[in-house]
Amino acid sequence: MAEIIAGVAMSHVPAIGVAVDQGLTGEDYWKPLFAGFEKSKQWIADQKPDAIIVVYNDHATAFSLELIPTFALGCAANYEIADEGWGARPVPPVIGEPELAWHMAQSIILDEFDLTLVNKMEVDHGLTVPLSLMFGQPDAWPCPVVPLCVNVVQYPPPTGNRCYNLGKAIRRAVDSFDKDMRVIIFGTGGMSHQLQAERAGLINSEFDNRFLDMMANDPEKAAAISHVEYLRESGSEGIEMVMWNVMRGALDHEVKEIHRHYHVPASNTAVGHIILENIK
Ligand code: DHB
Ligand code: FE
Repeated sequence: MAEIIAGVAMSHVPAIGVAVDQGLTGEDYWKPLFAGFEKSKQWIADQKPDAIIVVYNDHATAFSLELIPTFALGCAANYEIADEGWGARPVPPVIGEPELAWHMAQSIILDEFDLTLVNKMEVDHGLTVPLSLMFGQPDAWPCPVVPLCVNVVQYPPPTGNRCYNLGKAIRRAVDSFDKDMRVIIFGTGGMSHQLQAERAGLINSEFDNRFLDMMANDPEKAAAISHVEYLRESGSEGIEMVMWNVMRGALDHEVKEIHRHYHVPASNTAVGHIILENIK
């Protein structure tokens, strides 16, 4: 049977992708950020996952204000890299895992989460930057990807608790997939940041570090954080952190923390990263 072996969370700042693509990762500004992913790259190379579920948000790239799915599951065989205004990132194409994705669709929808199913979709920095952070610059990504988009762009996004419970439904879906597969789930976005208006540039390291602690040790507490609290404590774009709850819900209640990294700044955000393994 398939199993979720681990969860990984990380920010997905577009400038991180630019740094990778333009060979800037060794520069003073970027070096400490990328140094925190060296252990992660080694860890994931050792894990050799057969598939990765990437929980991320589309930034008005594949979807616009004309169509706003709360949860959209990618069932396609491949996903083109989006041009977000300065050309598509020079990264390998993203290969899908339709068999697993359709099984997830059936299991999760019959579990009463009404997903939107997507058969054609371009993927933006929300999905490609986490792949770059974990895999660097390979000729091909090492395994297929099942994208799961969460609306955090247009109010109202789903609650943290709904995201956490979706993670549990993902866990049931993967556990019931009749194929030996080692699956890792990524939760992306965050940490504290605000890109607009009076509080643009806001960073709240105290909140971010408390959130990382909750991911490791108290997932229900993280899942109970309200929209207003995210907004107040982590800025308007800090709401991206609700997606980490999806990842966390797909893991055991007790997990083993493998690695953690926190760095400020990357563009306008605090970058957070954590790797949690299910205890076998
Ligand atoms: C930035 C961060 C994001 O999460 C994003 O989606 C776009 C921009 C930034 O800090 O520049
Ligand atoms: Fe974002």
